[in-house]
Amino acid sequence: MIREIVQVGDPVLRRKCEPVTRFDRELCALLDDMKETLKAAEGAGLAAPQVGVPIRAVVVDVEEGYFEFINPKFVWQKGEQYGAEGCLSVRGKAGDVLRPSKVKIIFQDRNGDRYSLVARDFFARAICHELDHLDGVLYTDKAENVRPAE
Ligand code: CO
Repeated sequence: MIREIVQVGDPVLRRKCEPVTRFDRELCALLDDMKETLKAAEGAGLAAPQVGVPIRAVVVDVEEGYFEFINPKFVWQKGEQYGAEGCLSVRGKAGDVLRPSKVKIIFQDRNGDRYSLVARDFFARAICHELDHLDGVLYTDKAENVRPAE
């Protein structure tokens, strides 16, 4: 089911999200809906608070594939990249953000199993953007030149 994407101004986007503790049917339904919502919106990533659920879960859809990260945490961040971002919760805008060029995260999948992953370039950028959402941070807080998207 496609869910409505919350827009900037809604306080749920500014909350520090709670860790996921129950890897149950409800979580699976949420993740399935987030995947469908992200694909329909043709975005690179979507965080649970963007569909109004303040828990630590994100989905990312990039060249490397489709990923679900539950309770993700950075292990390290290396290098720098500067480039354009947008956000499905900040429609019609873009801005350039400085991000690490390479990151390592640990996370759980929808079954609660633990993994680690190294990402670089745009994949790393997407992860950083989505993990910020879990702490109530929007890219517009970090971008120097938020502008109308082309
Ligand atoms: Co976003």
